[in-house]
Amino acid sequence: MIYLDSGPIYTLCNRHPNQMINSDLLQLRGSPFEALRTLLDPLAPAPGMEPLILTVGEPQHRPPQLMIDALRASEHLYGKYPPVNGTDEMRNAIVAWLARRYGLPDGMVRADQNIAPVNGTKEALYMIAAVITARAGHNQPKPVILLPTPYYHVYHAAAVMAGAEAVFIPAGPATNFFPDLAAMDPDLLDQASAFYLCNPSNPQGTVASNDYLKKALMLARKHDFMLVVDECYSEIYDAQPPTGILEICKKEGGSLDHMLAFHSLSKRSSAAGLRSGFCVGETAVIKAFLNLRNFAGAASPLPVCAAATALWSDEAHVDENRDLYRKKFDIAEEILGYRFGFYRPQGGFFLWLDVGDGVEVAKTLWTRAAIRVLPGRYLSVTGPDGVNPGNAYIRVALVANQDDTKEALTRLANSL
Ligand SMILES: Cc1ncc(COP(=O)(O)O)c(C=O)c1O
Repeated sequence: MIYLDSGPIYTLCNRHPNQMINSDLLQLRGSPFEALRTLLDPLAPAPGMEPLILTVGEPQHRPPQLMIDALRASEHLYGKYPPVNGTDEMRNAIVAWLARRYGLPDGMVRADQNIAPVNGTKEALYMIAAVITARAGHNQPKPVILLPTPYYHVYHAAAVMAGAEAVFIPAGPATNFFPDLAAMDPDLLDQASAFYLCNPSNPQGTVASNDYLKKALMLARKHDFMLVVDECYSEIYDAQPPTGILEICKKEGGSLDHMLAFHSLSKRSSAAGLRSGFCVGETAVIKAFLNLRNFAGAASPLPVCAAATALWSDEAHVDENRDLYRKKFDIAEEILGYRFGFYRPQGGFFLWLDVGDGVEVAKTLWTRAAIRVLPGRYLSVTGPDGVNPGNAYIRVALVANQDDTKEALTRLANSL
């Protein structure tokens, strides 16, 4: 079940490793979007149809007015250097939101100890690996960072550039699209500095059970690695709010040891351009992270902190946002029914459709229906058994408006 990264799909950097460049860069996997451009750009889209793009997970709903108002009201602050840990108001708003969302007792998460504001979680998920991974001593094996596959491509870059061995663990339908914890080798877990998990799973949109999250946390504590939980899709849910890792910490006595969770306003508040999120977790790690960010992180501008304070303090716009996605999942259910392995995702805004051969189908959909979707293959790696768990799938982002979504899914259903 577990295998080592089998190497780059394609190389971004053509310089020879012993030139003045960090040779670890040669291990980076190209972005899935570059691979898609290579696949589809030489092909003409179906003539006479307006191209519809369903590839990028960038919400297209209007960002809330309260964000714009907060930015305007604090525009006089753009001239100031912002502090690395943001403002008290923002961290207090985040802690209050966490307490409301997860029913946390007072004092379990401390605004002055457990929160690191970040400029979007992408760079934070990358940088954190360097904070929690000790360099291997001379002649010692590299530390390991465990990743699910399919995966968010930043996790892999984080592991590689932190000097770790990226070990991918398949996350297929048999295990609810999460890595099989029971099959993990204890020796490998002992070598791990971190285990990245995305809940709801990305792009499959399943939600980890409480039992699963508890087991993952217990493994982290037993084998002394950090459980890094990417919860950036947690607020885009269908029926039930997904359990957060903090709720599991609460049930287990309230300690945040061996855990970090990442939250973002990009999906929750349709504010990808604001670049605002936070990391919550173990005090010592947050302290070290903020210390590194003092050198290498871009602190959030004060108007962004003000906007984030307003957004974390408001739930009405998030309810509205969720409703817009639910309507699109209704449309998808109506059009796709039980074809292509359709299921209604519990969280997130992607369809993960089993179409047999995702790469071929992406070409067909572009040339016959002028719609662009992402082959699951580009989000996964091939194991030593030659199997890529994303091969059969396409990822369809339901981020556009309802009319375009309906049109695109109708074309998709008609052309397959
Ligand atoms: C799984 C996952 N995690 C994290 C991010 C980063 O989001 P942001 O940097 O906008 O907070 C994304 C963005 O698409 C994502 O898909």
